[in-house]
Amino acid sequence: MTKVLINERLLEENDASVPYNDRGYVFGDGIYEYVRVYNNHPFTAKEHFERLLRSAKEIGLELNYTVEGLTELITELLSANGVVNGGVYIQVTRGAAPRDHAFPEPSVKANITAFTKSYERPYKLLEEGINAVTTEDIRWLRCDIKSLNLLGNVLAKEYAVKYNAKEAIQHRGEIVTEGSSSNVYAIKDGVIYTHPINNYILNGITRKVIKAIAEEKNIPFNEETFTVDFLKNADEIIVSSTSVEVMPVIKLNGDVVGDGKVGPITKSLQEGFNRYIDTLS
Ligand code: PDD
Repeated sequence: MTKVLINERLLEENDASVPYNDRGYVFGDGIYEYVRVYNNHPFTAKEHFERLLRSAKEIGLELNYTVEGLTELITELLSANGVVNGGVYIQVTRGAAPRDHAFPEPSVKANITAFTKSYERPYKLLEEGINAVTTEDIRWLRCDIKSLNLLGNVLAKEYAVKYNAKEAIQHRGEIVTEGSSSNVYAIKDGVIYTHPINNYILNGITRKVIKAIAEEKNIPFNEETFTVDFLKNADEIIVSSTSVEVMPVIKLNGDVVGDGKVGPITKSLQEGFNRYIDTLS
């Protein structure tokens, strides 16, 4: 049976529950991270937990953990569940309290929960690419916080599903921001363009890895906003995340991207990403 982490205790899945008045459930008042596991190693766990601590700080959630403490917690869970390849989801809420929008006074203990999943890398999609659609970004203005409030993202992803696409690429007016659960890159004339890090997007950990690979390979990495029209005319499009890695987009709104094949810069970044993973084994 699979174990689930509830506040430092590993419980059988069927015995794991949180109170009905947990603020994560009632208000979406909490934060989360999703960490990938390759060959028994949590990938870029330090960066993920640094981001979790930052998200906590940004919403005024007191979390008495260090990066090392959080890493220990998930390592224990991953080994209890024997995860070799897969991922671990960890979320922290402001705790259980009578329903009131204001923070509980006196404060209550944060609830930390985590669960794992075993699965292989999406090799076929990485090789063949995916379809994406564009949609207006209707989310709040603090997309830099990895908050549990994902309704805008959920509706965007569902819009993609409706049009047989794997990802919805969001835009605020003319400016492309990010995917419903990924960062977005347009490649034109050998240059990678991606939205700068600010409150309109999540500072993706995979984005950081891609930036490092681009720098190693001397591929210009331009952190500048670009328009939906620019995206439509790109030679190559990529979306990236912990789960989809360096994912090529070969059709946008039903139209072929570039020549319809996975492009050379995408392939080069994928090759670099594979090398990063290989160093873990
Ligand atoms: N989501 N932007 C959004 C809105 C995201 O939800 C994600 C990841 C990213 C990419 O971030 P990273 O490279 O750190 O995974 C960008 C995760 C995978 C999720 O919600 O499950």
